[in-house]
Amino acid sequence: MTGAVKVAVTRRLPEQVEKRLAALFETTLYEDDKPLSREALIERAQDVDVLAATLGDKLDAAFFDAVGDRLKLVANFGAGVDHIDVAAANARDITVTNTPSVLAEDAADMAMALILAVPRRLVEGVAALREGKFEGWSPTWMLGRRVRGKKLGIIGLGRVGEAIARRARAFGLSIHYHNRKPINPHIEEQLDATYWESLDQMLAHVDIVSVNCPHTPATFHLLSRRRLELMQPHAHLVNISRGEIVDEAALAELIETGRLAGAGLDVYERGGPNEKLLSLSNVVLLPHMASATVESRLEMGERVIINIKMFADGHKPPDRVILGLDSEA
Ligand code: DGY
Repeated sequence: MTGAVKVAVTRRLPEQVEKRLAALFETTLYEDDKPLSREALIERAQDVDVLAATLGDKLDAAFFDAVGDRLKLVANFGAGVDHIDVAAANARDITVTNTPSVLAEDAADMAMALILAVPRRLVEGVAALREGKFEGWSPTWMLGRRVRGKKLGIIGLGRVGEAIARRARAFGLSIHYHNRKPINPHIEEQLDATYWESLDQMLAHVDIVSVNCPHTPATFHLLSRRRLELMQPHAHLVNISRGEIVDEAALAELIETGRLAGAGLDVYERGGPNEKLLSLSNVVLLPHMASATVESRLEMGERVIINIKMFADGHKPPDRVILGLDSEA
């Protein structure tokens, strides 16, 4: 590219990342930490070469029509791109990049924490203590279920799924997974993982289900009421990917009626959890924080900068989102 590359940012980013962006490019930062309104987002993306966007910015076909033709790159801060119509962007010659690999380990830690927290009643225990309900050790109080020896079924064994599987094996879980295709046989062997072509059959077989596929039109409510009902009553579900993949109302109802043992969720269909989920004791609910470590957010920012720099130097940015390939949420 000739001339200074103009970049607009849509949210507050870690200070170090903002400083580097400002030093390298002609950058418009955003002082506030609230998602921009549609109008403000369009205004911000007009007359810039690059939009450093993130989750919460709805970048659909109408948005790309409205911003004019200077915009050439959307460098997303985050792995999931379900808020961006990538096909519409590409049709207008706009490249979309994301930050796929740098958050996998931190996200996997959080999934593992939820895998442990639900059957071991971790949050219930903390609450009981705080509420003054602890009257000393008892042989029969606060009994959970053992994790070791259980079967973990991972839906979407990509980077994050694999990082979860490695942790889970250390906790004595056996690994099962459902993908469109089996993974590399070498990794499958390392993980001693069992591939299930049929998601329905895997759901009926495992004790814990971890959702790790991206949210796309094809995975919306992949875990429908019918599929959730295939799970065993002692089983629980963990989701750190996107809320839209699970029918949340059905999930809450099945847990409430004892048809499912519980859930650990970091993501929700509509921003936050529904009322019923909030009222249940055997669910652990987090506010979309699986990748929220200082290290992860700095590395995500670094990937955004690398993608913009490569693009500015006339090369293909390394983290291009290629349609048809699953990019992880
Ligand atoms: C992502 O990267 O898409 C996460 O959900 C936000 O950290």
